[in-house]
Amino acid sequence: MIKVDEKCIHCGMCINDCMSKVIEFDENKVPKAVHPQRCINCQHCLAICPTGALSFKNKSPENSDSIQPHNPDEILNLIKSRRSYRKYRKENLPKDIMDKLKNMLHWVPTGVNNHRLVFSFVDDIEVMDDIRNYANNKIIKILSNPLFKSKKFDRYRKPILAGEDIAFRGAPHMIVVSTPKDAPCTNIDPVIALSYFELYAQSLGVSTTWCGIAYYIFNNLPELQHQLEIPDGYKIGYVMLFGYSDLKYQRTTQPEPYKIISVKKDNRNMTLKERVKRLWRF
Ligand SMILES: Cc1cc2nc3c(=O)[nH]c(=O)nc-3n(C[C@H](O)[C@H](O)[C@H](O)COP(=O)(O)O)c2cc1C
Repeated sequence: MIKVDEKCIHCGMCINDCMSKVIEFDENKVPKAVHPQRCINCQHCLAICPTGALSFKNKSPENSDSIQPHNPDEILNLIKSRRSYRKYRKENLPKDIMDKLKNMLHWVPTGVNNHRLVFSFVDDIEVMDDIRNYANNKIIKILSNPLFKSKKFDRYRKPILAGEDIAFRGAPHMIVVSTPKDAPCTNIDPVIALSYFELYAQSLGVSTTWCGIAYYIFNNLPELQHQLEIPDGYKIGYVMLFGYSDLKYQRTTQPEPYKIISVKKDNRNMTLKERVKRLWRF
């Protein structure tokens, strides 16, 4: 599982950083995987070795990227200037950009390094148009039925009936993340993946929109799930639209602040009344 060469300085960092306690020193103080069945493939051992002496399952350190310093101001600006785009150019992204977006996804974290997410890319605008037309016709049919009473689409009813693509915002592309139903963090992994995807995309000048409406549509139209090749035992985690847009935002927004709580040291001297009050709150 791990191979250690003569560059090893016997520092034990790989042992120390292995959360599953897979590695131990052998009699010559060379790291050895003694409990391989516990390994979750996180590759911390490969990443932390100061001399690049350790290979993990034929992945040698020379094939890893070096770690560059990051500019926190630029990252914060990217976070602040990220927007949801609702107008797109009707054109495919260039292949090299699409490839960059796809390749980045292998680094998104998943709970317990489960690493079984599936990403369905609609990377051809013609396919996107097929899905769009099919779904929009279905929605129009449902909304036109006088027996349809759900209030969910009330806000969008008029424009949808007028033929506006409220669901897919005219986007040329879409990424649908599906997740094994039995994954330890099945609900959160896809959202993390799309959060990374969105920021990386916008750093490349590619616009994105989280798409709750498409998520709702796909969950109600199994035939589209089939087209997206969602594997058996999987469910759709979430959906994001993307493509080039001519919209250009000039400045960041100024959102209302969230409530941020600094949790204080537990006050053991609380009165009984305070304790009851606190218990009641939770
Ligand atoms: C989980 C989630 C689902 C969303 N679903 C949709 C959607 O279906 N259609 C849409 O136009 N925008 C959707 N949005 C975008 C939000 O409306 C948007 O984030 C919000 O208006 C703030 O704008 P901003 O993203 O530009 O800051 C969604 C956002 C999130 C986080």
